[in-house]
Amino acid sequence: MLRRSLLAASRSPGLRTTLVTAPVTRRVVRRFVAGEDAARALEVAARLLADGLLVSLDRLGEDVRDPAGAEATVRAYEKLLPELPGGVEVSVKLTALGQALDEDLALANARRVCVAAARAGTTVTLDMEDHTTVASTLRVLDALREEHPGTGAVVQAQLRRAEEYCARLAYEGSRVRLCKGAYDPPPSVGYTAKADVDKSYVRCLRTLMAGRGYPMVATHDPRLIEIADALRMVGGRDHDSFEYQMLYGIRPDEQLRLARTGARVRVYVPYGEDWYGYLVRRLAERPANLAFFLRALRTR
Ligand code: FDA
Repeated sequence: MLRRSLLAASRSPGLRTTLVTAPVTRRVVRRFVAGEDAARALEVAARLLADGLLVSLDRLGEDVRDPAGAEATVRAYEKLLPELPGGVEVSVKLTALGQALDEDLALANARRVCVAAARAGTTVTLDMEDHTTVASTLRVLDALREEHPGTGAVVQAQLRRAEEYCARLAYEGSRVRLCKGAYDPPPSVGYTAKADVDKSYVRCLRTLMAGRGYPMVATHDPRLIEIADALRMVGGRDHDSFEYQMLYGIRPDEQLRLARTGARVRVYVPYGEDWYGYLVRRLAERPANLAFFLRALRTR
């Protein structure tokens, strides 16, 4: 209920202005976002790499409504990619590349980002956004993979069709990030009970871990991480054949612990000025984060 209200409130322009301009918001933002520019993101990435972690950098921005905004996103990635050290890839949202305007424009823009990534010797993962964008994002993914087979996909376990997507994507060389899903699909499209999302996650995990692709197990949930490890052992997968992924600022000790077991662990590091939607999704996920935010407001 709280999650639904927060996600709905995130679309209110009034609330957005109030939050973005409140100085205290910045303190909370710093916990989840590396900084407002690429230089700061690269510093954070270097620190994580030194700790034995891998990184996916995400330039914040979504829901671009004009071609100039989409062009600015492409240029920012084209500028960033040559700067990346080994062990760092990028995550990209198609709505920041113009998906809401025109799927072909988003595809052309995503191609440019993939070309820049290939030149830099790294890969791109297409984040998955709200349920209305899923079919289009999967079409763009298929088209990109013709030339850039390393392009990563995302499956949201909260979707009723998640298992079907996993089965389709579990082929040789296919990088698939499995997450619970941060949006709020209608009951006809997604599971509403947390327990059902978790069960779906386990079914998807079984499919991906038994398949021939490269699963990217994106969760902070200790039970799901244990299940992934058990499936790795049962399936005889070695540590290099999949990775765990977590968000910057969430369970950093667990990230290090897992890496010390020999697992590959990638931290998703968002940066940029347009952090509002990302922050609200993190607050919506966990009442404790909201409490942290409200406490910060009170002690301003
Ligand atoms: P869950 O929310 O059940 O949390 C399990 C435990 O993890 C909690 O008990 C707590 O200990 C800890 N935890 C989780 N969230 C926390 C938070 N915000 N603050 C502090 N502790 C927290 N979604 C999407 O729709 N499209 C996408 O492309 C992506 N991409 C993506 C990449 C990566 C690397 C990750 C880790 C996640 C995503 N997500 C995403 C977000 C994902 O769908 C989901 O909303 C969050 O990961 C939270 O779900 P958990 O699996 O962590 O479980």
